[in-house]
Amino acid sequence: MSNKAYLEIGGERYEFPVITGTENESAVDIKTLRASTKIVTIDPGYKNTGSCESAITFLNGEKGILRYRGYAIEELAKHADFLEVAYLLIFGELPNGEQLEKFLSDIRKESHVDEEMKKIIDAFPRTAHPMGVLSSMTSALIAFNPSSVNVSSEEAMYHAIVRILAKFPVLVAWTMRKVMGLPREYGDNSLGYVENIHKMMFRHPHEEYRKDDLAIEALDQLLILHADHEQNCSTSTVRIVGSSHAGLFASLSAGISALWGPLHGGANQAVLEMLEAINEDGGDTAKYMAKAKDKSDPFRLMGFGHRVYKNFDPRAKIIKKAADSLLDDLGIEDPILDIAKGLEKEALEDPYFVDRKLYPNVDFYSGIIYRALGIPVEMFTVMFALGRLPGWIAQWREMRLRNEPIGRPRQIYIGANERPFVPIKKRK
Ligand code: SDX
Repeated sequence: MSNKAYLEIGGERYEFPVITGTENESAVDIKTLRASTKIVTIDPGYKNTGSCESAITFLNGEKGILRYRGYAIEELAKHADFLEVAYLLIFGELPNGEQLEKFLSDIRKESHVDEEMKKIIDAFPRTAHPMGVLSSMTSALIAFNPSSVNVSSEEAMYHAIVRILAKFPVLVAWTMRKVMGLPREYGDNSLGYVENIHKMMFRHPHEEYRKDDLAIEALDQLLILHADHEQNCSTSTVRIVGSSHAGLFASLSAGISALWGPLHGGANQAVLEMLEAINEDGGDTAKYMAKAKDKSDPFRLMGFGHRVYKNFDPRAKIIKKAADSLLDDLGIEDPILDIAKGLEKEALEDPYFVDRKLYPNVDFYSGIIYRALGIPVEMFTVMFALGRLPGWIAQWREMRLRNEPIGRPRQIYIGANERPFVPIKKRK
């Protein structure tokens, strides 16, 4: 690839550098475009626009490749645990035993959530959507951790990071137990990171906590698979909010709200609701396929399609296998899984989906596992946020350490030209 690009405008020829990354992706560097040509670019949805250079996650959408800091997602899902992957994403290397132990011990020291926060979560109606509760509670945490706001040194960032890694799972557990009408649990610092999350979420109020290795392993793998995904909608939100030097917790709260949307992380809940509707409809997948292809119908086949993957989402392949084996191990016959597999088969043979390269994405099968673990459907996107937390943190930290400028896109104005003010008495 040449290291220069040329643009001809109004008879003038302009030259711009082309940069190439470590995986041979190239970009035209247009940092000087407006200053030299007086024009800007426009790219709704940023389908062709890179916002940053990043060393965290690499995706190849055509080949269905996903790597965190160079490690293949298939390897990490099989051999690593979630806290190791969180460390890798945030600090760039897999931790050795000592580093991991210190990381977990620093997190444990921060695991208390101020009792006053319970008054805030109590103020929400039981019907409040858990993503709205989680976003609000994450923002509310700022009031109880003011030193985590204006962080610019690596040391201050580290403390903010271990604080949120400690407290966020408590907020997730409290949010779920509010939905289920259960008393709020605190954690147990003698347990592993994900084991502790499982305990806070699932311990029955009248029984001692019983470790469930199958469930903890399934949860750990799902969290790894959701941990980062380069510049997706919610991560870009975390970066742009953080670029104003808003604190980490405020940036994460914004990212949670972006993830909530049904076109993004909210899709995992929408998939389950769609599969249940098909099940109630007697398993009539053809009707929903037709709706998805009907341009006059806003319905989309939830869990299908992706902005980057034009091949199988590698995470979907792993989750589909994990759903199969977990349901087997738990002895659960879930008709929803059969409907999902039937829908996938039909879509992968249908020209509409094949021509548009629409494959199952991370959200298509994940809800089947969450459901088998006893997680309410309205909590599915909260589980996505729990998994994505280390990725958001890593991307926010990289953006701040690289001193990226405040995000402020340009626009092309298409409104009214200048016109004189008309006093109200003279308006028609
Ligand atoms: C996530 O970016 C990330 O990395 C996100 C994520 C992460 O880890 O952070 O991977 C997580 O958000 C996964 C995506 C979850 N969303 C869904 O499953 C919702 C259903 N899928 C879509 O709405 C859609 O596929 C998107 C939003 C995911 C991607 O949309 P794009 O890239 O903007 O593509 P598009 O809307 O321009 O669609 C291109 C064509 C259109 O048809 P034509 O105009 O060419 O005729 O494909 C059609 C679309 O109508 N299409 C679908 C479809 N997805 C795209 N048609 C029916 N059903 C679908 N699901």
